[in-house]
Amino acid sequence: MVAYRDNATGLTAEHLRGGFFEGWPAPPSAERHLAILQGSEVAIVAVDIASGHVVGFVTAVGDGVQSAFIPLLEVLPAWRGSGIGSELVRRVLARLGDRYAIDLVCDPELVPFYERLGGMGATAVMWRNRDAATGNRP
Ligand SMILES: CC(C)(COP(=O)(O)OP(=O)(O)OC[C@H]1O[C@@H](n2cnc3c(N)ncnc32)[C@H](O)[C@@H]1OP(=O)(O)O)[C@@H](O)C(=O)NCCC(=O)NCCS
Repeated sequence: MVAYRDNATGLTAEHLRGGFFEGWPAPPSAERHLAILQGSEVAIVAVDIASGHVVGFVTAVGDGVQSAFIPLLEVLPAWRGSGIGSELVRRVLARLGDRYAIDLVCDPELVPFYERLGGMGATAVMWRNRDAATGNRP
């Protein structure tokens, strides 16, 4: 069973060592992951009640008024397929309220997942500083 928390208060890097950033060539360390959660405008985590470990999370960054971007959403593989990802999206959208623009970038196969949650497919442009992303500098 999971419980949802609406911020990163009380979390330590130890709570984040379950294997997030699956498939990333150089995944952020748990310490960097914690810094990401703490620095985000919104961070919502799903916690395994039995162990206290984080099994899913979503972040949003924004201007506090009109726009927000959802850079990260992930559920650990063993916990997927039971609605945690959808619930994290619903909760981050609720926190962002009536923000005019809420954007995220995803692979095409995930568009139907977000459409079920009220999103619309769109075209995106992105920049990636891959050296910085792999530096693991918190
Ligand atoms: C996307 C993700 C967060 C969904 O979490 P979840 O807890 O499994 O979500 P839910 O249980 O609410 O919904 C599951 C549904 O999402 C859809 N889905 C998830 N991953 C998918 C994928 N790679 N391709 C197509 N559909 C996918 C499926 O419809 C799936 O239903 P199914 O389990 O019946 O096949 C999770 O799969 C994940 O962490 N993936 C790796 C990271 C990622 O891709 N994040 C999104 C970045 S934009």
